[in-house]
Amino acid sequence: MQINPIAQELNAIIKNGNPHLMEMFSKTGRRLFFPKGILTQSAEARQKAYDRFNATIGIATESLHTMCLPSVMSHITGLRASDSLTYAPSYGIFALRQMWKEAMYQKNPSLQGKSVSLPVVTNGITHGISVFADMFIDPDDVVIFPDKMWGNNHLIMSVRGDANITQYPLFAGNGFNIAGFEQKVRREAENNYKIIVFLNFPNNPTGYTISDSEGNRIVEILTRLAEEGTNVIAVTDDAYFGLRYEEGPMKESLFSRLCDRHPRLLAVKLDGATKELFVWGLRVGFITYGTVINGEHAVFYDALEKKTAGNIRGTVSNASHLGQSLVLKALKSPSIEKEKAEKVEILKKRAMRVKTVLADPKYKEVWDVYPFNSGYFMCIKLKTVNAEKLRLHLLEKYKVGMISINDTDLRIAFSSVDEENIEAMFEFLYKAVKDMEIAA
Ligand SMILES: Cc1ncc(COP(=O)(O)O)c(C=O)c1O
Repeated sequence: MQINPIAQELNAIIKNGNPHLMEMFSKTGRRLFFPKGILTQSAEARQKAYDRFNATIGIATESLHTMCLPSVMSHITGLRASDSLTYAPSYGIFALRQMWKEAMYQKNPSLQGKSVSLPVVTNGITHGISVFADMFIDPDDVVIFPDKMWGNNHLIMSVRGDANITQYPLFAGNGFNIAGFEQKVRREAENNYKIIVFLNFPNNPTGYTISDSEGNRIVEILTRLAEEGTNVIAVTDDAYFGLRYEEGPMKESLFSRLCDRHPRLLAVKLDGATKELFVWGLRVGFITYGTVINGEHAVFYDALEKKTAGNIRGTVSNASHLGQSLVLKALKSPSIEKEKAEKVEILKKRAMRVKTVLADPKYKEVWDVYPFNSGYFMCIKLKTVNAEKLRLHLLEKYKVGMISINDTDLRIAFSSVDEENIEAMFEFLYKAVKDMEIAA
């Protein structure tokens, strides 16, 4: 297929700023561009034809206002139809992108002085992963994960994207398995020109976040590989950012430390309002890039954002305008930080309660607890019974739901169990294990 002239222009800009990016893109990534079709023509019309007739965009208006049904609009208070029912730009609402970026610098002080792209809005983080996969993954490309990972990554990247997901054990003792991580990424770098490394902390399913020193080691290892000539794409999935319950885990996203290390190291940040603002169904996520660039940063990132928005235009077209406007309003609210902190405190109390309850020695006979210090979840490793059989028995007899993730491990979302019920929940689990041991 011929590469469109607009894509060629974007590729030239990107190549000029960092030639390694061209080797990191997938075939689709190289071909992507943002079309100057209906959207550009209608943007031009908005500027010049506002007081005459603007017959460009595919929405309906009445007396120059967005046409709408009272049965819909009566449920949306505080937002105009033009800010909720009309299409959002494929890039996302500009003011929201700017605010999210500003907040990113506040949440990650070590980003100060470093240049990153403007975040592009995705339809939740799931879609962010999918956009990333379209742009950077070709069939058989290697994507490295720990053995404890969010299962949907398989569907997005290996089932749909034909990637080769390969894993290393997440833990060594009570901490991150640095040696296993290094061995895995080095081996893959020996056999590939490009590797993709996903870093998800707080981790789903374990609720583990690395310490500062573990984070520094990860950054050193990936930087060294880039220096030795491998193209490294490090993707931080920061879905559970900010849900930190102890002093040990890293406060900032690893993205801040990865985004300015080496031209062969591209950092991609996937994050969202989903969990950070407790708005799962509003579907507002973001994709942001950071790397080392020659010359004008703004021009380079603009080209990358255009390709990203082109991918969004070609898949979901744009994310929910209503969702984005609500998130933008929330970010502008003076009390948002206080409100968030209150909810994080509730989750922290639950995590602490889980730790206290699980300190009971009788539990140690039947399961081990994986390290956890953040996020929504914690995991246990069963010693005597099969996890899936236990899950079914627990559900059937005790009406308690948990997730079995393999033969031995159970994931428990304390994010959705009130503090006063945590002790009883583990007691039911213990009883269910004992039932099965007796029956065996
Ligand atoms: C690690 C991780 N990444 C991404 C997501 C998806 O987030 P979203 O709802 O924004 O698509 C989840 C949700 O469960 C998750 O656990």
